[in-house]
Amino acid sequence: MTRAYPSCPSPHPVSAADPDLFRAAAGSFLTGVAIATVIPPGGQPCGITVNSFTAVSLDPPLVLFCVGRSSRRFDAFDQARSFAVNILSSSQHRHAAVFASQAQDKFAGIEWTSGPTGSPLLPKSLASFDCVLHEKIEAGDHIVLIGRVLDLRRTPGAPLGYFRGGYIDCVAPDMVSEEPMRASRKAGSPAQPDVAGEAGSARSGC
Ligand SMILES: Cc1cc2nc3c(=O)[nH]c(=O)nc-3n(C[C@H](O)[C@H](O)[C@H](O)COP(=O)(O)O)c2cc1C
Repeated sequence: MTRAYPSCPSPHPVSAADPDLFRAAAGSFLTGVAIATVIPPGGQPCGITVNSFTAVSLDPPLVLFCVGRSSRRFDAFDQARSFAVNILSSSQHRHAAVFASQAQDKFAGIEWTSGPTGSPLLPKSLASFDCVLHEKIEAGDHIVLIGRVLDLRRTPGAPLGYFRGGYIDCVAPDMVSEEPMRASRKAGSPAQPDVAGEAGSARSGC
């Protein structure tokens, strides 16, 4: 159903029901890139690239991300009691592509370790949040997973960004530094694949 908004200053009435338009508009919001991971009971590690990550609360420490029902890893996240979110650095561009793909074994050749909850943590991530499920919210064709952070770790580096369907290789001060962070970003430079990350263990998963 097309629905025009009279108060909207746009000369072109838009349809809120147009998925392509909705996706394009939402993609105008510059985000970082993360990989959410989980290990189903008795199963192999699973992961998907997400940019729906948000820090929600300091007390208690809560973060969230959304998982689409169309994901082949949906059941693993839907049933998860714990999971991790790894915030990617600009050196992990290839990780982002692999975990956004429909590869059968996304963890093939990817180095990872287990956090306290057992969820996969990806070394060289700018930050990793290891969480237990706090709340799951049904939201249209996605679920929102809110995690209570049990453990976190940080690594210096520059962030990987995402804007209007493309990755942005960012330059930023050392985020682990005690110095206040000053914005300094160079957009548009080509991202480099994380060759070193592929030399890791051969632990496999989906
Ligand atoms: C930059 C980027 C951000 C994404 N963010 C999300 C997200 O927040 N939630 C989600 O469910 N899918 C997201 N996706 C899509 C999934 O990564 C991808 O479609 C999915 O993992 C496909 O493989 P699967 O069927 O094995 O899950 C994103 C993709 C990219 C490239």
